Amino acid sequence: MAVEQTLSIIKPDAVGNHHIGAIIQRFEESGLKIAALKMLQLSREQAEGFYAEHSERPFFTSLVEFMISGPVCVQVLQGESAVARNRELMGATNPEEAAPGTIRADFATAVSANAVHGSDSQASARREIDYFFAADEIYTR
Ligand code: TYD
Ligand code: MG
Repeated sequence: MAVEQTLSIIKPDAVGNHHIGAIIQRFEESGLKIAALKMLQLSREQAEGFYAEHSERPFFTSLVEFMISGPVCVQVLQGESAVARNRELMGATNPEEAAPGTIRADFATAVSANAVHGSDSQASARREIDYFFAADEIYTR
């Protein structure tokens, strides 16, 4: 098992519904360390670039509109198998399919407003962390 970092985003729906604290508590209680944290309003260009892999999907425009509809909270989570563990805590993309007790089961309202983002691989985690954080903004110990 290796210590990894992964990128997490608390999306505008969960920020607007006052769930920042509850979601971060789940990360910390599971043993994932918050190595970096910031709140920001994404520009359209930032949201499009972040989700570039989905640019041809039918939901791309609505996804970008949603992601810029209010501020987000972005975190670097660090710990053993952080990528997979964060995805487990998040639950399935569609909250109707998310396992009970997961973040999306408890806080998401729709597939299009599903409370959190989490990197899906170590390669995407590296790209996504670099997208939002400079090296000196990440506290690894
Ligand atoms: P995806 O990377 O498939 O899901 P995940 O966030 O679990 O990695 O999709 C990215 C986001 O796009 C997803 O969180 C919400 C949005 N989305 C939709 O709005 N409709 C859809 O049908 C899908 C698959 C995703
Ligand atoms: Mg994804």
